[in-house]
Order: sequence, then structure tokens, then C-alpha cells
Amino acid sequence: MAGNINLVVCDDAAAVAREAARRFAGEICARPGAVIGLATGSTPEATYAELARMHREEGLSFAGVSTFNLDEYLGLDGTHEQSYRYFMHDRLFRHVDVQPWNTFVLNGKAANAHLECQAFEQKILALGGVDIWLLGIGGNGHIAFNEPGSSVDSRTRVVNLTPDTIAANSDGRFFKDAAEVPRCALSAGIGTIREARKVVLLATGSSKAGAIAAAVEGDFTTDCPASLLQDHPDCTFIVDRDAASGLKSA
Ligand code: GLP
Repeated sequence: MAGNINLVVCDDAAAVAREAARRFAGEICARPGAVIGLATGSTPEATYAELARMHREEGLSFAGVSTFNLDEYLGLDGTHEQSYRYFMHDRLFRHVDVQPWNTFVLNGKAANAHLECQAFEQKILALGGVDIWLLGIGGNGHIAFNEPGSSVDSRTRVVNLTPDTIAANSDGRFFKDAAEVPRCALSAGIGTIREARKVVLLATGSSKAGAIAAAVEGDFTTDCPASLLQDHPDCTFIVDRDAASGLKSA
């Protein structure tokens, strides 16, 4: 292993979700005013379902929790079904008791996107920083919408999406057609993410095996943005067997 990344290999995607939800619930129980970072994409959906179940059946309360999301498509407002604000409302927020005014998702329709990005960073600082940030990973190693080449100290900003990412997000799970996918997004930077006290990255399925191997065992390089977590003091990757299948050490 090239860095400090803690690796947890689970039997399947359901076990990944249970393990991730257990860790986030633990943070919230330890600190009811926890500041948690969230992600979108298919991978965390089962984790959100498990957190919603824990709220319903076990009394896990989000009443004091603040949330920050990694990213949002430029040009989509929160009522658009493919916006990340809509996704979060649909998959998690409406199922738990989080206060809507404590959920921070970048506004893809902000009049000034650059100011929106600065305000997002300032809000994180004002709340004392993110305690634990949940991440997914793209097949090319991207985290949030930090595509290969993004610098280790990048901050929240407007970014261009790569053709790979546009194709991955228009395979029918989200957008039906690549032409519908916005070409730009607002994204927390790698520097922003690295400042979280804990980082938990999830990956399931063999399409992520190459990215996981590069991130965990490859060089610390902007070619694989997730590898830039290798020197984080508290970073855990929770993956299923398929996503671990490219690792020499697993
Ligand atoms: C998008 C998101 C990322 C996410 C990635 C992988 O690009 N911006 O935050 O990690 O998709 O998504 P999935 O979990 O659907 O493979």
C-alpha cells in the first residue's frame, strides 16, 4: 500500500452500505451536532436507505446535523430530477429529521457560481469543518467532480466534466442521453475534501476495480484524484470484493 488508506473489504454491496451507515450513525450519536459531508451517485444510495431505516426503526436523529454535498450540476436547479439537490431530498433528507436549512447543496442556478463556491467554503468553516465526508469514486478515479489533473489543494469551484464522466452519468441510471448532461459542475475541491476530519470512500462493482487499485496502491498523483487521499490521517475505503479485485494486497 502506497499510503495510509484503511481498507475494509466487504462481501457485497449490501454489506458496504451497512458498514458505511454504521460509521455515520456512530459519528452522529457521538456528536448530535455533527457536520457530515455527503455524496451522490448510485453507490451511496443503499447507505442512505440504511440510514433512513436506522432513523425509522432505531431512533437515529439528524435533528442537530448539518450536511454538505460534494457537488452540483451547473445550470440545474433543485427541482430538476437529475440535480443533486433533488437526489439528496429523494434518497435521504425527506426520510429523516434533518432540518432543511441545515442541508447545504451548491446551487447550480446561482447568479454568480464563483461566489456560490466561496460561500460554500465559508459556511463549512463557520460550522467548524466537516467531521466525516462520504465519497464515491468515478471509474477514472475522480472524487466529487475533481477529474484527473485536479490539484491536491483545489477548492470549491466550477469545473468541466470529462467525456468519460458524462458517459457514465448518462447510461440510463441518471440522464438518458449524454446530450442532456450539463458540461460543467460546481464541485468541492480536493483540498476542501482533504480538510474533513474523516473521509469514507465507497466503491462497489468491478468497474471500480482499476480506480481502487490506483488510488490505494498506485502513486500519489493528480492522474488519479482519489490517490490524493493517501496521506489523509483518517481515510477509509469500504469496498466490495469486486471493487477490491484489482488490489494486490486484498
Ligand atoms: C458522479 C459524482 C461522484 C460519484 C461518481 C460515481 O460523477 N459526482 O461524486 O462518486 O459519479 O458515481 P456512481 O456511484 O454512480 O458510480
